[in-house]
Amino acid sequence: MNIYFITGTSKGIGYGLAIELLKNTNNFVFGLSRNNNITHNNFKHIYIDLSDLEQVKNFNFEFCKNPQKIVLINNSGIIGHIRQIGKVDNNKIIETYNINTIAPSILMNKFIEKYENENYEKIILNISSGAGRHSISSWATYCSSKSAIDMFSQVIFDEQQKNRKNKAVKIYSIAPGIVDTPMQTDIRKATIEEFEFADKFKMYKKNGELTSVQEVTEKLVAFIENSVKYKKVIYDIREIR
Ligand SMILES: NC(=O)c1ccc[n+]([C@@H]2O[C@H](COP(=O)([O-])OP(=O)(O)OC[C@H]3O[C@@H](n4cnc5c(N)ncnc54)[C@H](OP(=O)(O)O)[C@@H]3O)[C@@H](O)[C@H]2O)c1
Repeated sequence: MNIYFITGTSKGIGYGLAIELLKNTNNFVFGLSRNNNITHNNFKHIYIDLSDLEQVKNFNFEFCKNPQKIVLINNSGIIGHIRQIGKVDNNKIIETYNINTIAPSILMNKFIEKYENENYEKIILNISSGAGRHSISSWATYCSSKSAIDMFSQVIFDEQQKNRKNKAVKIYSIAPGIVDTPMQTDIRKATIEEFEFADKFKMYKKNGELTSVQEVTEKLVAFIENSVKYKKVIYDIREIR
């Protein structure tokens, strides 16, 4: 059996990923989020608030007996307070880094500690963002929180390649493109005064330029299933065929 731990399975990309994976009866999905909208024999919801780091530190990956593959997908994320620096709510800065950067970092640390000596295939896939690779005004916390995930992933890759070779945990950080999810609805709520690209994001939706969750999740699942083809760490979804 393939075991998946996915954060943020209640909506958006994480929900789509879980639904796509559950089409294969050889997959079991643990969904980590505050809310749950999935009922399936091969799905278990685990309540966790990733902004509460005590809950994250207390989370334990389950011991899985002889899986074929074990996968952690750090997908949960928030856009944060859309304002230029100087006007951002300080608590929102903390919350955004906790959910987007610190919680996934702790989960990666725990995942590697738990499974790195196992002989089965081990994969970490982080859902990053193009915003972590290009500066966007009014998104400073979001951009930097995602940038940190790219670098964290790169360092894990270097460590695993040097020390573990055949048994290495595979690690990827993938930007999914602009996807039609509730996060995009949140972005479209910003005014032009708060966010200089507010109209551009409204037009993406109006012109049907957002990628569907279905298209993105099919590509991400195919990526995991064919991970042997992918030798780098940092990817954009457009590179995945
Ligand atoms: N949509 C895009 O255009 C886009 C573009 C680039 C990157 N991304 C990235 O893709 C990932 C998924 O985004 P999305 O668009 O699918 O977002 P979304 O529709 O807003 O869904 C976010 C998910 O994150 C979870 N989450 C939020 N706060 C949480 C918390 N405190 N504890 C646990 N889970 C929490 C939510 O679950 P609960 O609320 O139930 O806890 C939800 O399932 C994010 O990392 C995002 O940065 C998205």
